[in-house]
Amino acid sequence: MEEIVKKIKEKKPLDNLDDDYVLGFIDEFFKKEPKLKKKYENQSLKKIDVKKIVKNVRNDLNRFYGQFWLSDSIRESSHRSVRERNLFYEKFYYEIFFRIGIDFKSILDLGCGLNPLTYNLIPNYKDTYFIAVELTKKDCDKIVKIFKKDEIDGEVIKADLRRYNDFPKVDICFMFKLLESLEGEGHKLAEHLITNLKASYIIVSFSTLDTKGRRMNYPRRGWFERMLSRLGLRFDKFEDFNEIFYIIEKAL
Ligand SMILES: C[S@@+](CC[C@H](N)C(=O)[O-])C[C@H]1O[C@@H](n2cnc3c(N)ncnc32)[C@H](O)[C@@H]1O
Repeated sequence: MEEIVKKIKEKKPLDNLDDDYVLGFIDEFFKKEPKLKKKYENQSLKKIDVKKIVKNVRNDLNRFYGQFWLSDSIRESSHRSVRERNLFYEKFYYEIFFRIGIDFKSILDLGCGLNPLTYNLIPNYKDTYFIAVELTKKDCDKIVKIFKKDEIDGEVIKADLRRYNDFPKVDICFMFKLLESLEGEGHKLAEHLITNLKASYIIVSFSTLDTKGRRMNYPRRGWFERMLSRLGLRFDKFEDFNEIFYIIEKAL
């Protein structure tokens, strides 16, 4: 298995991923392809089988991680989501803080990407404690550098959000374009996160573009709105710059 993991990680930026994370995706792939799993167990995988495993698992890893990290450098153009909304950040933070006010002291940013590059556009950022969470050590190291350069008070946590979500109580939690990057099918994890997070406001965003870059006919997420109503959570929403935002209030 070590050899297969090594082969999968030969393509950048998948080399940043922990072996255990990659192994989890191989396991998932084997569930869909039990014949290949049998062959692996009998040590009878052919070259073509290995190629198939590597290709499919890389596709899955790119869907959840690789597609977002465009280069190793630390600038807005190096992360897909930040690059997409780069010119609009000021307006977009305005839209958020206009709705929830600026009486906050802490922000938790889950699956933050290179968002920390824009924290200095947030009102009161000098008096705010930021907790930024990302999947790999290499990306977390980049974020630590941003914190140092921009003198951001806070911490960076390396965590796989599919397993770990024991975060401290905060005023605001960002989950920008995160939920659909965490789980393939179903919404169990989304519900788990929303239910367990201790934040007065959770701000969740989704893209309003489809995979071909066209505007979706129905960008609002019905499943998400139904889930929030079922959990008894009040929410407001607005749409801006190819993104739909849900501002969720949690009574703590
Ligand atoms: C669509 S990007 C959004 C980035 C950022 N929130 C933004 O909107 O600019 C999703 C991010 O989630 C991170 N991610 C994906 N799976 C993760 C996991 N299991 N745990 C933690 N972070 C994860 C990716 O590395 C990526 O940076």
